[in-house]
Amino acid sequence: MALKLDAIGKKIGPITKEYTWKDAVLYALGVGAGFADLEYCYEKDLKVIPSFGITTMYDVIPQLVAASNVNLAGILHGEQELIFHRPIPPEGKLSTEGKITNIYDKGKEKGALIIAKCETFHSNGQKLFTSIGTVFSRLDGGFGGEDAPKKEVNFPQRDPDFVIESTPFEDQPLIFRLSGDTFQLHVDAEFAKMAGFEKPIMHGLCTHGFACRSLIQSLIPGEPEKARRLACRFTKPLYPGVPIKTLIWKTGDGQALWQVVNAETDEVVIDRGVFEYGEIPKDEIRFDDRVAIVTGAGSGLGRVYALELAKRGAKVVVNDLGGARDGSGKGAKGPADKVVKKIKAAGGQAVANYDSVATIEGGENIVKTALEAFGTVDIVINNAGILRDKSFLKMEPENWQIVLDVHLNGAYNVSRPAFAVMKDKGYGRILLTTSAAGLYGNFGQTNYAAAKMGLVGLMNTLKLEGQKYDIKVNTIAPVATSRLTEDILPPDFVDKLKPELVAPLALYLVSEKCPVSGNIYNAGMGCYNRVAMVTGPGAVVGDGKEIPAAEQLVAQWEKATSLKGAKEYQNLNEPIGDILAAFAQPAEATEGSVSGFDDVSAVFDAIPGAFIADAAAGVDVVFQYNISGEGGGDWYSAIKDQTCRVESGTHEKPTCTLKMAAGDFLDMMNGKLPAMQAYTSGKLRIEGDIMKSQLIEKLFRLQT
Ligand code: NAI
Repeated sequence: MALKLDAIGKKIGPITKEYTWKDAVLYALGVGAGFADLEYCYEKDLKVIPSFGITTMYDVIPQLVAASNVNLAGILHGEQELIFHRPIPPEGKLSTEGKITNIYDKGKEKGALIIAKCETFHSNGQKLFTSIGTVFSRLDGGFGGEDAPKKEVNFPQRDPDFVIESTPFEDQPLIFRLSGDTFQLHVDAEFAKMAGFEKPIMHGLCTHGFACRSLIQSLIPGEPEKARRLACRFTKPLYPGVPIKTLIWKTGDGQALWQVVNAETDEVVIDRGVFEYGEIPKDEIRFDDRVAIVTGAGSGLGRVYALELAKRGAKVVVNDLGGARDGSGKGAKGPADKVVKKIKAAGGQAVANYDSVATIEGGENIVKTALEAFGTVDIVINNAGILRDKSFLKMEPENWQIVLDVHLNGAYNVSRPAFAVMKDKGYGRILLTTSAAGLYGNFGQTNYAAAKMGLVGLMNTLKLEGQKYDIKVNTIAPVATSRLTEDILPPDFVDKLKPELVAPLALYLVSEKCPVSGNIYNAGMGCYNRVAMVTGPGAVVGDGKEIPAAEQLVAQWEKATSLKGAKEYQNLNEPIGDILAAFAQPAEATEGSVSGFDDVSAVFDAIPGAFIADAAAGVDVVFQYNISGEGGGDWYSAIKDQTCRVESGTHEKPTCTLKMAAGDFLDMMNGKLPAMQAYTSGKLRIEGDIMKSQLIEKLFRLQT
């Protein structure tokens, strides 16, 4: 019977499992703990070994097997990854839910891989860990599916930093199986013989637990709560009683690679081990399910962003053309490849791309690389950059053009195809890279400054277009030592301006937690601040009808140009509203106008009577009102063919929607709150065609 490929996406769970401290201790004894690490075995101040998390997989795997119809005769637990979000409390109820995420075909001879990813929550409401389990099915390959993406773990070519020797007891599986894996292969001699073994074999996950203890003992002694990620591949069976060695290489800050070998034969029984550890910061920013594109990630700032994103779980497309600092030359694969290698060596996931951001095809290919390697794109950091500095008269067209092509057009070329994916999925983060040269000016950089400020304009509008789809667009102005700046920055600063000091801001702005869109930030040397464009209140010169003389403006110059009371606007409608408000006269009752309303519905009863049909020639609009609070509700007035129809409820296609609280609405309708003031103070919010809302004053005799 063939694999059921439509099992991809099939839900697993929720599977619940109650446990007490005795279950945690039983697991600890099953993986060799004892008096030497009593904190795992004694209910007083008990700490739970983080790999206890895999005991939830015993219930996940049968569901995975049933859903995928895998051939039971040939299955093995292939790989296991645990990402720890919080320490596991000593008792409670675990609830695990997930889905089958992929089924890969390694070929007829090699078999198939079925992968499930699950999240486990504790009964205290906290997410404890994410587990990703791979079942390897020897007999199900060759169905014509895609092969799994290659994951490389490159062990250092040196002796391990730690070698921990242990000898599981002959009877170890008898204890370990009580934690949930009661498969006969580990207890029944006849069954084991039928399966081709001399005797029952160790559970791979039991050896995995020994390794987890060894990693903690070597890297974070006495602090299992600092374990962050444990991943590995099971490669060879092991008989109980055979001594093992856990080999551990420290590869970076909070990162290690590991293997378990059979100490008698030197065969690797667990391979490609990755262990990450360190404080679990409160509100940690993670990118576990996210796919990020970082352009120009072969060096400087982009390299640091890519490494940091991968370290926090993102799958990263490392784009870099590998050209010269001025954008000349054919490019090279080396810079991107090196970063990908470094990410993989630390157990992360990354793929290289060598396209230029400066062409439409390049941008499309970069996004295609993300889709082909990882299936989606959640994050784009537009970072690639070059310099061609010259004073303005020496700025020949080619030097102007290439800088605009890489910086400004580059962001367009990559972000646009990515935006299409983000819009469909309803999530996205786009980061643009501007520069102090653009924000404030710098001699000899007209091309660069223009491109960098063009990006700010791109952000201002893209933030509005992305708003509905949770696509946030922000801009960073870094200062850091890199190939671009090494000969520009004063030598004293070179060491202080580490690109790593910019990364925290970039990471936050592309994370799920990012609370803002449309903002610009400076970051350098560990100092972060916001840059904004603000507009002063200005002066009204004349009455808005007669054209004032230049001298009249000069007479009010100080007031017109003062930034006292300056504001920051979020879109073009807001300053227009303020200009209109500046001309608004206090409301005066006009003859025949309606007022004196006590309740909102009375306003809508009065609207048809206040309609001025003569003013509505050729007008076809629908004004939707959403009035909140006591006495509020939804009404709309539809004006067409010089008639006005008022209905309660919501219109399907309003021209514009006016949103107000009931009290403010009554004040406005009774002439106590000028409409423009209501608008600029935020009491009146207008969505849709704001300019058409101006017609209300013309079409109705209302005191607004
Ligand atoms: P960098 O030169 O170390 O990195 C830029 C990377 O972009 C290089 O690896 C380069 O090969 C790549 N690249 C250039 N053209 C490309 C293209 N067409 N397609 C794909 N990749 C391409 O420089 P750094 O400093 O890390 O610059 C990163 C970004 O930060 C740039 O946009 C730069 O303008 C901006 N920036 C940097 C400042 C700093 O102080 N380092 C200051 C202000 C802005």
